[in-house]
Amino acid sequence: MLDLSKQKLNRQTLDLLIDLTQQQGLTEAIKMLYSGGLVNRSELRPALHTALRAGSSDQHSAVQIDGQSVSQLVAKNLLDMERIASKVQQGEWLGYSGQPITTVVNIGVGGSDIGPHMVCHALDEFRIETKFPLDVMFVSSMDGSQLAEILQHLDQASTLFIIASKTFTTLDTLANAQTARAWLRKRIPSDKLIGQHHFVGCSAFPERMDAWGIPCENQIALWDWVGGRYSLWSGIGLPIAIKLGMAGFKQLLKGAHAMDEHFQNAKAHENLPIMLALTGIWNINFLGLKAHTILPYDGRLKLLPNYLSQLEMESNGKSVTNVGEKVDFDTSPVIWGDVGANAQHAFFQLLHQGTPAYYADFIVPIKRTASSEYTKATRTQLEYQQALSLANCVAQSRVLMLGDDVLAWDQNIITSPDRLYPGNHASSTLMVDELTPESLGLLIALYEHKVFVQAVVWDINPFDQWGVELGKQIAKTTLSAIQQRQAGVLSQEGVEFDASTEGLLNYMFKKNH
Ligand code: F6P
Repeated sequence: MLDLSKQKLNRQTLDLLIDLTQQQGLTEAIKMLYSGGLVNRSELRPALHTALRAGSSDQHSAVQIDGQSVSQLVAKNLLDMERIASKVQQGEWLGYSGQPITTVVNIGVGGSDIGPHMVCHALDEFRIETKFPLDVMFVSSMDGSQLAEILQHLDQASTLFIIASKTFTTLDTLANAQTARAWLRKRIPSDKLIGQHHFVGCSAFPERMDAWGIPCENQIALWDWVGGRYSLWSGIGLPIAIKLGMAGFKQLLKGAHAMDEHFQNAKAHENLPIMLALTGIWNINFLGLKAHTILPYDGRLKLLPNYLSQLEMESNGKSVTNVGEKVDFDTSPVIWGDVGANAQHAFFQLLHQGTPAYYADFIVPIKRTASSEYTKATRTQLEYQQALSLANCVAQSRVLMLGDDVLAWDQNIITSPDRLYPGNHASSTLMVDELTPESLGLLIALYEHKVFVQAVVWDINPFDQWGVELGKQIAKTTLSAIQQRQAGVLSQEGVEFDASTEGLLNYMFKKNH
């Protein structure tokens, strides 16, 4: 349920915005998206995340890429995931010494980390029972600190690493994977044993996984028609399948597929992704709101704001149209957020009384059933906490809208300017009945399609991310400068830094010696 009653628009505004989507060719664009058209124009690729959750629906079985049926590729992929996931769950995936795997560590970054991590965190209570206790963990940070911290508590004999990288060239991931391999080598005598028993890979480049030492049977395929931030539905979702079981993973796909069908078929006024997108367009382009906060009122959705910040900002953080012209309007806003109730004790001060203009999404599951394993008293207390959170969600969006006018109800009078609440802040409220794999699938796909609609209106490509490339390239030259300085070579031929960077490098070098 999407409630727009706290947005500053009316039916006529929406009608006009819907006209705008038609002018921009939304209906055709949706057809192109679902049928494998080259919607990623700068890379001449389709973006077929909808096919990953379509089962064998007619629409996608007709889509062929390089002479192969997309739905058959997806079906084979799901079988590969199931084979690996169920072996781990049943205690049949053994480490080099014959011990069952009890820890799975996903090594990835960006879309190869944030999506599966967010889902595994949100759906922890849906984990399936495994033969042996099983932990699923995530490491992403390039500096190795996350990995170093968890390795201290892990046992080489019972740890399986998943290297999740569409390109299999991402340095952050490969550096963590190398560190993991070095750690395994302490106890495991050969690289062959390490590859066979302790690494699984998911990538669009099997030859790179081969070269890294991951045997064929431990590889899961991926394709260039799945964008990184749209990939949790693919083999990149293996940690989800391991944690929830394949049935749970398929429920997630089912929810997303239901949203795909809704997006394709519902009339514009009833179409949740379209409504959410147009509200954003209204706020960004007409009301000038350049920041958007995501406020889930449920601790299980803690990682959702982070996930949406990649989905939206990496997709629509663009300033050039599909025909290469510079835009003269705003595109993606800055997205940030946290669990709403926690944020009330952190950045809500700015939301209520600060100066930057923003809009908010409140997201809340209505029902939550406490596990029957708890005593009645604990369950009652947890139910009270759930009501507390719902009340805060509704109260906060109300105060943001009405400001201190809300106090008229209590006959309260504010005298000091420090205590004034201007209100008049727009927000949407999204309610799901209950947080389940299916409803989470719906929710994620809703935002994916919202991003797509906005990209169509803005005439930008949401499926490339050229803006992240230059930094990666420059980091390579900078790394070699740091390594050379560490080796005592002070000036490098052909490498020149600006004065600011030179100053920082010199400072670091002095501190390191
Ligand atoms: O650097 C950005 C990015 O390409 C993301 O789009 C992607 O999700 C992430 O890096 C990880 O890429 P890969 O899966 O190829 O390692």
